[in-house]
Amino acid sequence: MAEQDAVVDNRVAAVVIMAAGAGTRMRSAIPKVLHRIAGKSLVALAIDTADALAPERLVVVVGHQREQVTAHLAEVAPHVTIAVQEQQLGTGDAVRAGLAALSDVSGAVVVTSGDVPLLSGETLQELVATHRVEGNAVTVLTAIVPDPTGYGRVVREGDHVARIVEQKDAAPEELDLSEINSGIYVFESDVLAAGIAALEAKNAQGELYLTDVVAHARASGRRVGAQLLADYLQTEGVNDRIQLAERGAELNRRILHRWMAEGVTVIDPATTWVQAGVDLAEDVTLLPGTSLEGATSIARGATIGPDTTLIDVEVGENARVLRTHAELAVIGPDATVGPFTYMRPGTELAARVHVGAFVETKKAIIGEGTKVPHLTYCGDAVIGEGSNIGAGTIFANYDGVGKYTTTVGSHSFVGSDSVLVAPVQIADGAYVAAGSTITSDVGPGELAVARGQQRNIKGWVARKRPGTRSASAAEAALASEAASGAREDSE
Ligand code: UD1
Ligand code: CA
Repeated sequence: MAEQDAVVDNRVAAVVIMAAGAGTRMRSAIPKVLHRIAGKSLVALAIDTADALAPERLVVVVGHQREQVTAHLAEVAPHVTIAVQEQQLGTGDAVRAGLAALSDVSGAVVVTSGDVPLLSGETLQELVATHRVEGNAVTVLTAIVPDPTGYGRVVREGDHVARIVEQKDAAPEELDLSEINSGIYVFESDVLAAGIAALEAKNAQGELYLTDVVAHARASGRRVGAQLLADYLQTEGVNDRIQLAERGAELNRRILHRWMAEGVTVIDPATTWVQAGVDLAEDVTLLPGTSLEGATSIARGATIGPDTTLIDVEVGENARVLRTHAELAVIGPDATVGPFTYMRPGTELAARVHVGAFVETKKAIIGEGTKVPHLTYCGDAVIGEGSNIGAGTIFANYDGVGKYTTTVGSHSFVGSDSVLVAPVQIADGAYVAAGSTITSDVGPGELAVARGQQRNIKGWVARKRPGTRSASAAEAALASEAASGAREDSE
């Protein structure tokens, strides 16, 4: 009971995520915050981080290319409130627009940006905790970065913050300050509202600076604190494609560290990519060149890779997936897949299935222990247990207009190089002779042979290809056969 009260008490009234800026340096038709790392848009990552605070209200401020951003948010985060900043007049104006979209906010308001993908929910929780413990009106998340150029600098007064000065407005000695403003803050809502109302664009950029709320709060006798974050990478933003790649690699590194701590073996973290939505069990092994995307999940003991991409794939315990590209597929426990397998949506392998080299599957439901080992196209198929599909079998599912299903029963055998022309059914315990083109159903226990009868025409090479190496090889073989035939006759 008491614990639950504490959780409720610690909730912040609102989080405002600023995402209205143009992102010009991305040089992209896509809004900056819709660029992705770890499989999620930058703004979706910012929302995930904010959600860790369970705020009463969560507002995203959109502006530049807002139709695209709004459509994306409706899809990935329907719980957020969208605020529109008509003109990008500065960060102070962005927060004004955010607050205007929320009626009567009172209490703590967290402000962050849509382009800081490494910021963690724990960091925001600690920031809010510090804000409350110190009784601050404003608490600024700060960091010491290798190169502070471009950032706002934190001007301290003892352990208080006096003000934040932007790069372009700073005096030379202020540029030497190494503590930067991350652009992430907690404000008491009354101080924030009063500070924003008082903003003036009297600065080098002619913008309404949110950072000026700090000096305003100090002038009205309120305390402004700073939380210095040692892990400064969390505060780094994305302004161009180079930073997009760098933050992406760092987020991947952090995701892999978390999985390794939870018992996953990652042979080569530099070439292994695991997106934010993936779930891995203990004793999973990821070999080099593996990329796990979307809602992929891998059960205990499975080994994936090398050179494998799985998108929305569920892999069962102890399965082995080698050099494979698979999407929207289920791979059962102890199944073995690859190398060089292409599994398309709707593939479902039961336990102990083997799908091997140069096999493509699509909408294929394959029963326990069945083998599709080599060179096969298996589309729109339902196959029972313990069957064997020979090398080079084609499930001809498309007649140029529609797609049809082929059914193969349990413990059936399809000989190599067969074509199964759908719709067709091959019953339990049936055989198909190699090289057959099957166009009608095969009953239980029957052998279907559907190919031309073999004819051997004696002396054809001697007559039609005289004087060739084939003709002399045949002549020699016939002579030695005749000689050994004569010997055997005399024995
Ligand atoms: C801001 C801070 C600076 C800090 C830096 C950290 C100000 C005045 N300065 O600077 O002290 O070190 O962030 O990265 O706040 N945005 C809007 N609407 C606007 C302007 C900006 O939504 O009108 C959004 C941007 O999309 C971005 C965020 O606010 O997500 C920060 O804007 P940006 O222009 O990057 O601020 P900086 O000038 O870098
Ligand atoms: Ca910035």
